[in-house]
Amino acid sequence: MGKKLWGSRFPKGTNALADKFTSSISYDQRLAKYDILGSIAHAKMLKNQKIIPGHDADLIVKGLKGILEQLAKGKLKIDSQAEDIHSNIQQMLKKKIKGAADKLHTARSRNDQVVLDMKMYLRDEIEETSELITLLQKSILKFAKSNKTIVIPGYTHLQMAQCVLLGHHLLAYLECLERDKERLADAEKRVNQMPLGACAFSGTGLPIDRKFVMRELKFAKLTDNSIDSVSDRDFIIEILADLSILAVHLSRISEDLILWSTAEFNFIDIDFSFCTGSSIMPHKKNPDILELIRGSSGKIQGALSSVLVMMKGLPTSYNRDLQLDKPPLFEAIDTMKEILGILAPLFENIVVEKEAMVARLQNESLFSVDIVEYLIKKGLSYRQAHDIVGKMVRDCLDKGKKISDLGNRELKKYSLSLDPDVKKILNAWASVNLKKSYGGTNPKLVARQIAVWGKKINASV
Ligand code: ARG
Repeated sequence: MGKKLWGSRFPKGTNALADKFTSSISYDQRLAKYDILGSIAHAKMLKNQKIIPGHDADLIVKGLKGILEQLAKGKLKIDSQAEDIHSNIQQMLKKKIKGAADKLHTARSRNDQVVLDMKMYLRDEIEETSELITLLQKSILKFAKSNKTIVIPGYTHLQMAQCVLLGHHLLAYLECLERDKERLADAEKRVNQMPLGACAFSGTGLPIDRKFVMRELKFAKLTDNSIDSVSDRDFIIEILADLSILAVHLSRISEDLILWSTAEFNFIDIDFSFCTGSSIMPHKKNPDILELIRGSSGKIQGALSSVLVMMKGLPTSYNRDLQLDKPPLFEAIDTMKEILGILAPLFENIVVEKEAMVARLQNESLFSVDIVEYLIKKGLSYRQAHDIVGKMVRDCLDKGKKISDLGNRELKKYSLSLDPDVKKILNAWASVNLKKSYGGTNPKLVARQIAVWGKKINASV
């Protein structure tokens, strides 16, 4: 371990267990790139403001660029004994450029430095995650497009309810994923505020130029309060909350696909390349990937809880507890990117079991609401119509008959308004066609939505 940034005040070295316990290098080394870029901007500012001599600043910038290059080549040797990535890079710089390196940390503390690094890191991760969401939306849209005419029995309470277009159901996924992207974009506004210059927590007496650093690092604005700058991690909590909501959506999508792939539903077949087998039951083809996506949403929500609980009792200002925001955040982001990355190709490897679906649509209970609405159009009240159809459905179920098997006279027993033409609406295609209200499952409306989505996410449809 190199010399500590704060070692001189200590009359003796720290206990090895204390060093190990307080070190964050094992996980914050992923911030290296941002730490270096932040330091380069800081050094340039110190030079411009004549806070440190120009030639020292030039040496610092050159040294840091060298370290950045090593990092890009995968050749940077991280000291696993270092206290954190900030100290480690400082040590590396000292080795390279000797005394001038000591001037880099002027008008800066690791308290504002770590927030800067985290915000720069998050800006990139937000962008990458949003792009992955768009890729997933594109696969789902492609799947919807190639199954445009497929009608499925829709469910409420997990009981067969009414017919809907498969595409309509799939577009519901696109809607919630879009809101997830919007949430991330909104959170990014709060991430994109430059904290450097807050120093430990009170600002500095040195004539720094925070705006210069803000512009160099392409931040949208400055943070306005130095205490708040180092104290809060609400921007991390917000991202974790957004990821948790996204994870819930992905978990529910997975659950749909898991159910649909069962022998009982038999709506879809997921390609073998995205399934696993059983070590004991030779016939099994299990949707483990989807199950693990569903399970991982718990991990992401756990990360949110972890940071919320870590924060709740902290006195305002920097506290070392804040270091512990990183492992849950990093794990949540890594997990989410992995989920999004695998769910997109999985969607491209699903085949719809068309015949099984058609057989399922023979169940005429699916059209009960259509008959109710048929009667309403003939002037009956909603209540009368519901009662009539309720009786009809009950009798048919009791007698093992289909509504379409009822003769004209039998129909009239239920209501004089039931004419033979009612049988024309007792099929899946007629049923979805009837749902013309905006946002409904009518094929023309759904086709329009598919086109709208194609434009929105820039996918060829
Ligand atoms: N590693 C710390 C963190 O992640 C930053 C170091 C701040 N340390 C300090 N003694 N002020 O928050």
